[in-house]
Amino acid sequence: MRRYHVTTFGCQMNAHDSERIKGMLEELGLGEAASPDDADVVVFNTCTIREKPDQKLAAYMGEAAARKREDPDRVIALGGCFAEAQRERIFELYPAVDVAFGPGSIAHLGDWLGAGGVGVARGRFGLDDRDFAAELPTRNERSFQAWVQVSMGCNSKCSYCIVPAVRGREQSRRPGEILAEVQRLADSGVRELTLLGQNVNSWGRDLLPDIRTEFGELLRACDRVDGIDRIRFTSPHPKDFRDPVIEAIAECAAVCEHVHLPLQSGSSRLLKAMRRTYTRERYIELAEKMRAAIPDLALGTDIIVGFPGETEQDFLETLEVVEHVGYDSAFTFVYSPRNGTEAAALPNQVPHELKIERMERLVELVQRIARERNEARVGRSEEVLVEGPSRTDASVLRGRTRRNTAVNFTGEALAGELVEVRIEAATSMTLRGSQRALVAV
Ligand code: 5AD
Ligand code: SF4
Repeated sequence: MRRYHVTTFGCQMNAHDSERIKGMLEELGLGEAASPDDADVVVFNTCTIREKPDQKLAAYMGEAAARKREDPDRVIALGGCFAEAQRERIFELYPAVDVAFGPGSIAHLGDWLGAGGVGVARGRFGLDDRDFAAELPTRNERSFQAWVQVSMGCNSKCSYCIVPAVRGREQSRRPGEILAEVQRLADSGVRELTLLGQNVNSWGRDLLPDIRTEFGELLRACDRVDGIDRIRFTSPHPKDFRDPVIEAIAECAAVCEHVHLPLQSGSSRLLKAMRRTYTRERYIELAEKMRAAIPDLALGTDIIVGFPGETEQDFLETLEVVEHVGYDSAFTFVYSPRNGTEAAALPNQVPHELKIERMERLVELVQRIARERNEARVGRSEEVLVEGPSRTDASVLRGRTRRNTAVNFTGEALAGELVEVRIEAATSMTLRGSQRALVAV
């Protein structure tokens, strides 16, 4: 049997696409190889949001090209955002690539690879296609968790971001299709859903006037599906976070008390240069409104340091917002200029050493606050969805709370079960505890 291997870079959207890529390849009769070394068809599902994933890909491609020189029958397929962004240059950059395809053309992968991975059509394919992968066969990594894509593309114009250029304008999936998928997933035993979109809470706007559903109603409809115990969504844009969505989170039993609310910067001056269309004050107001409406809410965020023109004062304003809002988790990024974006051409790019210095100060603050917030959970009981044994210690189980904190705990439970865990210790990233009674099976 011919074998494939998929290496995934980037966001949850890509992780979701990779499940579809695997599903498609298995439908073609290929089996999964443990590593790219053992694979006849090697797929890289790429990301290009910052320079780092580009560099990581370069290292992987070096190895893959060397293996292909030994065995020219190996097929190298490059999918995802890097392939799409570099569509003109991809075969110059990486001559070993056989097939290049964009995020919207996974459905056609089979046509190019041929049955069983033989008879490959060499070239770049469908780099401009925009089809939802959601209707394709899938290979879920975990039977009890699933991603559901609600939209693709993004209409925002954040000046640092390459995504709108890569993924195109926002296109919402119709609510009927989304709910049919959710129902199918629930019937197959899925308990936790994550609704995915580049800007989930502007979902539905492009369906007007035919369909008048906004994101809050979609959350409510998913909540009504029997068997779905947890609903998450990512990522919302603060500018589109309206009251009906806050109310839906507060009122729907399955919608988790966890919101990822990208801040990017705490300086209104920089937010303007980033074209985020909200100010520091409006963001704080929104966060406070959400905390007041949703009991026990966990807030996560994304922050960029070293955006062009960032002064010490701007940076201090970011630190102030981080302290004020009190995030439970934060992804922090060093600004990375991306060719073709507005910000890459701005003057006053921040020197690398200064970016690193600010990053260290930010990470220290983020970790202190997250640790304090996790320590406040000690002594409580938390509902945990069991993911299986811990990766580092097989005698311990691992799972996540509704607030999306990872928990390592002692107990006896199967992956996919909901259990009550008494929290006994905390770090900035994880909780530790021991299992109490089974809640439900
Ligand atoms: N440089 C650094 N971080 C970036 N992000 C997006 N573009 C860039 C860039 N050019 C970050 C933002 C976004 C997250 C997914 O990645 O914080 O929310
Ligand atoms: Fe995801 Fe953006 Fe990276 Fe594409 S470029 S994989 S959309 S993070």
